[in-house]
Amino acid sequence: MPSSQPKHFINLEEFDTQTLKDILAHAHELKAQKFNPPQIFRGLTLAMLFDKRSTRTRMSFEVGMKQLGGHSLILSKDDIQLGGAESIESTGKVMSRYVDAIMVRLSDHKNLEELAQHATVPVINAMTDISHPCQIMADLMTIEEKLGDIAGKKIAWFGDYNNVTMSFVDASEKLNFEFIAALPEEVCARADKRANPTADAINAAKNADVIVTDTWVSMGQDGKEIEKFWPYQVNAALMAQAKDTAIFMHCLPIHEWEEVSEEVAKGPQSVIYDEAENRLHAQKAILAYCLADAGVKI
Ligand code: CP
Ligand code: NVA
Repeated sequence: MPSSQPKHFINLEEFDTQTLKDILAHAHELKAQKFNPPQIFRGLTLAMLFDKRSTRTRMSFEVGMKQLGGHSLILSKDDIQLGGAESIESTGKVMSRYVDAIMVRLSDHKNLEELAQHATVPVINAMTDISHPCQIMADLMTIEEKLGDIAGKKIAWFGDYNNVTMSFVDASEKLNFEFIAALPEEVCARADKRANPTADAINAAKNADVIVTDTWVSMGQDGKEIEKFWPYQVNAALMAQAKDTAIFMHCLPIHEWEEVSEEVAKGPQSVIYDEAENRLHAQKAILAYCLADAGVKI
């Protein structure tokens, strides 16, 4: 029997630990099967709705559906009536009559929630201004792949406090790892206490297992002043504070060479392209979780 509520994937804090671990375990399994992918999405269609640019999200969802036997269609906000006369409610209801799941990248998180409230098929958050849970599932998968069990690991974040940071913070509570965010003083002031915000970059990096950053200027923030972020650039001196086994992560795209030096981004500790690939496998597992009521068996 289908459950009354579609299985949305909106924020990590809404999931129990075991469900997240199960999705991650399935993601590893799907990666191992990448040359012989199980056709579990046969006959199913994903719609993807964007109001911002994307390389990884757009490609990895489309390829992921195709690899597992399904279909997808990409809609920019300007292609459909949502940008004009049609309401979010009507859009969600209508889209649900054509497709089996809806992936959404909408800046305003409230708009995504409204769409999910009216959709009768699962809605997947592919980034809003306050969260990016699919990115973090790929990041967790990458950490497990490179360093083993994530519990107890120290993940140190540098620079801005943004959508990616907020989803990392949600994950830290669920999967029991230490998270510390090194941010300029004024950014610390608006950060969630669960991020353990500090202005001391060197101390944050000490003994870290993972050093992670993201652009200081997220999409839609053009013209933002970046001077205050320079002490938080991830460079060789900062990496030297972390464990010898530490990895460097970045969701991409990088703003060259602001938040990270070229030396680190292209250096031996950088796992940024594995991280990008893992978007594909992590999202196939997220889709499989969401599409259970459409008959997908794992
Ligand atoms: N990391 C990420 O979400 O990249 P895109 O904006 O290219 O999808
Ligand atoms: N924080 C970035 C992430 C891009 C994937 C942004 O919102 O632009």
